[in-house]
Amino acid sequence: MSFSLTWHGHATFTLYTGEHKLVIDPFFKPNNPVADIDAGQAEADFILLTHGHGDHVADAAGLAERTGATIICNFEIQQWFEAQGVENVHPLHIGGGNNFDFGHLKLTIAHHGSMLPDGTNGGNPAGLLIALKDGSRIYFAGDTALTYDMKLIGEAGGVDLAVLPIGDNFTMGPHDAITAARFCGAHHVIPCHYNTWPIIEQDGAGFADKLKTTHDIDATILAPGQRYYS
Ligand code: NI
Ligand code: MN
Repeated sequence: MSFSLTWHGHATFTLYTGEHKLVIDPFFKPNNPVADIDAGQAEADFILLTHGHGDHVADAAGLAERTGATIICNFEIQQWFEAQGVENVHPLHIGGGNNFDFGHLKLTIAHHGSMLPDGTNGGNPAGLLIALKDGSRIYFAGDTALTYDMKLIGEAGGVDLAVLPIGDNFTMGPHDAITAARFCGAHHVIPCHYNTWPIIEQDGAGFADKLKTTHDIDATILAPGQRYYS
């Protein structure tokens, strides 16, 4: 296994596969108050979107246009980009997967909303289940409640890394995220979608301690700009 992952704050990540850079839910400075970089500093070969909310799609079109990266998202969001003249958008939908240059990506069930920033229907929200070419399995739950469907991922062999929201209020909080880590068979967890604004303030270290003591699963608490190496 060899991949690494930089947290840019909130739910924005760059996943480095060794060959490709995948940006998840691009939301950079200045709109993201805790981001480490501006959208203009980000690099991407692929841009993966979990849902249509502004704190996940804000910088997607600009990043795709500047870098030539392919956006991968649900069909409704793809249609929205197409109507704006954004090319290189690959539509998937929940339960469906496809082979890309970096490996296989499947959209999973997430319980949340997905309205786009201008009020357009953004379809249903999703999680991202990624199998890199070297066999590494990574699950980005996206914005979601705890759902029993996460057990399907665990029953299929689990994942090397689960990236889970812990902010509460809009998504799972730390308590439910601990159950989610067990359900999806996570070997390692990185929490996100917290400490962006006061309303989703959480204790990341406390979450990591509780995950370790209750289920013996390790978590890495990143600061924006920090990189995790698998
Ligand atoms: Ni959301
Ligand atoms: Mn969000």
